[in-house]
This record gives sequence, structure tokens and C-alpha cells, in this order.
Amino acid sequence: MYTGEKVRLRAYKREDVQLAQQYINDAETKKLLMPGIPYPITLEQEQKWFESISAFSDNYSFAIETLQEGKYIGGCGVNKLDWKNSVATVGIFIGDKDYWGKGYGTDAMKVLVKFIFEQMNINKVKLFVYSFNERAVKSYEKCGFAREGVLRQEIFRDGKYHDEYIMGILKDEFFQKNVR
Ligand SMILES: CC(C)(COP(=O)(O)OP(=O)(O)OC[C@H]1O[C@@H](n2cnc3c(N)ncnc32)[C@H](O)[C@@H]1OP(=O)(O)O)[C@@H](O)C(=O)NCCC(=O)NCCS
Repeated sequence: MYTGEKVRLRAYKREDVQLAQQYINDAETKKLLMPGIPYPITLEQEQKWFESISAFSDNYSFAIETLQEGKYIGGCGVNKLDWKNSVATVGIFIGDKDYWGKGYGTDAMKVLVKFIFEQMNINKVKLFVYSFNERAVKSYEKCGFAREGVLRQEIFRDGKYHDEYIMGILKDEFFQKNVR
């Protein structure tokens, strides 16, 4: 539906749910994504999440599919919308680790941000990322995001406290930087 150089963003399908549950239950992925206690998500819970997706409730979740093989490899979307201040908070994960570090996530984020600025008339996109997730920080910088703030010792993981960064990009910057 919304296409980049390596991926397209499309609606989730019921057939994705099983793989989505596998992806989200991977220990390494969970560590990078979820602030809570890393506890497994059941297939039933994942199915409920799938049922909750609806464009009619300001819930814009996309499946990420490779252009070459048409393979579902992860997801991204708008987690929170502040229409009054025109700010969208986004998130992304590539669940198939064979596709990490190969530009698929960066491409998907560019498509998502472009969609938000061009189709949703939002002025700012922001996201949260753990300080130890260097690949994600670099990926977001490649998309034009800048670090705006540090939440000190925000996340307790593997016995230690870690900082969390807030990164953001404004509509004008996105188009000036000509990210896509
Ligand atoms: C974070 C994520 C979306 C990034 O997408 P990606 O397509 O894998 O990122 P890229 O391949 O464009 O890599 C981004 C940069 O990080 C660098 N990088 C790759 N692996 C790295 C690693 N292990 N450590 C540090 N940097 C790394 C790359 O060199 C690249 O920079 P370059 O293009 O200048 O060489 C994706 O890896 C992912 O979903 N990971 C798992 C879940 C996650 O972390 N989600 C984000 C939560 S905030």
C-alpha cells in the first residue's frame, strides 16, 4: 500500500498473527521493545491485539512486508496521537532477525513518517528508544530524527538501569532533509 525501496507497509492479516506472536516473544527482540517485565504473550492475546486494530479508532498499525519475497517481517505504526498538538508517537520492530541491519527497518520508518506527514497532517513525529539499542538510534538518525531528551535510568533491564532517549522529527525538517 505504502511502498519504499525494500518494503511495503500493508494492513495486518489474520495469517500474520502466529508469526507476530513468535516475533514478539523472541527474548532479544522483547528486550529492545517492551518496557515491562519480559513475559511471554500468548497466541490468544496476540489475536485480541489483532482484533483491536481499526482505522476507526485512531489505531494505525502496519505490517512490514518485503518487496522482493512478499514476506511479513515485522510491524510499525502510530502508538499515540495527540491531534491538538499535532504529535504522533511511533514504534517499529523487525521481528525476522535475518532482516536486521540490512536497511529494512530504516526503509519502513521512512515510509511510515512520510505517510504520517503527508496523509495525517501531523507536525511532529516522536519515538522512544533505549540507550543500549544503538542500531535503532542510528536507524532513526538516518530517517532524520534528532535526539531531544534523555530520560535517565528509565528502564530496568538485566539487572541494571538504562537511559531512554526521546527522538523527534518535524514535518519541515523531514521534507527539507529530503529523507525520501
Ligand atoms: C531498529 C530497527 C528498526 C533498525 O532497522 P534496520 O533496518 O535493522 O537498521 P539499518 O540496517 O538501517 O541499520 C541502522 C544503522 O545501524 C548500524 N547497525 C547495524 N547493526 C548494528 C549493531 N548491532 N550495533 C550498532 N549499530 C548497528 C548499521 O550499520 C546502520 O548504519 P549504516 O547504514 O550507517 O551502516 C530494526 O533493527 C529492528 O526492528 N530491531 C529489533 C527491534 C527494535 O530494536 N525496535 C526498535 C525499538 S525502539
